[in-house]
Amino acid sequence: MSNNQKIALVTGATRGIGLETVRQLASAGVQVLLAGRDANKAAVAAQQLSGQGLPVESIALDVTSAASIAAAADEVAKKYGRLDILINNAGVFIDDFAKAPSEQSLETWRDTFDTNLFGVVATTQAFLPLLRESQAGRIVNVSSGLGSLTLHSDPASEIYDIKVPAYNISKTALNGWTVHLAYELRATPIKVNAIHPGSVKTDMNSSGELDIVTGAKSSVEMALLDDAGPSGSFVHLGEVLPW
Ligand SMILES: NC(=O)c1ccc[n+]([C@@H]2O[C@H](COP(=O)([O-])OP(=O)(O)OC[C@H]3O[C@@H](n4cnc5c(N)ncnc54)[C@H](OP(=O)(O)O)[C@@H]3O)[C@@H](O)[C@H]2O)c1
Repeated sequence: MSNNQKIALVTGATRGIGLETVRQLASAGVQVLLAGRDANKAAVAAQQLSGQGLPVESIALDVTSAASIAAAADEVAKKYGRLDILINNAGVFIDDFAKAPSEQSLETWRDTFDTNLFGVVATTQAFLPLLRESQAGRIVNVSSGLGSLTLHSDPASEIYDIKVPAYNISKTALNGWTVHLAYELRATPIKVNAIHPGSVKTDMNSSGELDIVTGAKSSVEMALLDDAGPSGSFVHLGEVLPW
């Protein structure tokens, strides 16, 4: 690995948008740590890509486990001493579509927030010291258009009737965290942005309209932002979305 090769870590990268994000970043010459909560699954996924000559290696990281996050950050610190790109991609969708917003169980709310919000905050806190060692740190929070309160309040919006509250509001909160962290880091080279991948056909979204290659593009674009790029924004394929 050359000294100026960027190092990225993508959480929840064993399948779906995360796995494709790893492939695209590695194809762009970035050294990528493919993180998965199941170490074996992550190793198999990483080997498939490294077998194609891509600079990919696996790392175990369950974003709901403080011990797992600490061990992963320690591993990266010892091996590389810095991190240039953190993509908080891991996410769950466990709302019951058959239930009204007021009927989703508290367990659903808690489990969703554990991964989609607290998992992101905890992972970011652990890797921030390593991102500060980068000359141009980038944090990408994989949010969703479903987190937009502006769109949810607009009867003309395509998402108006998709009121699955635990998932949607976990992404609204993730957007809020993005704005707060971008503010904290405004005088540093680190940029923090939220993205909406689009409605992408994956295990999470069987009715997705976009293919997975397109679905990973927003994450990759914001990961590879140059110094003139935005921080504290919410975007999809280069277009700014309403909060
Ligand atoms: N697909 C869409 O249309 C869409 C739209 C908007 C936003 N998003 C967001 O895009 C991201 C990726 O979604 P996807 O569609 O690719 O979903 P997916 O195919 O269900 O993949 C989710 C990934 O997250 C991982 N994960 C779940 N809990 C985890 C944990 N505690 N620690 C680490 N990894 C964990 C899963 O790992 P395992 O393999 O171990 O289960 C899997 O790799 C999510 O944040 C999602 O909310 C997706």
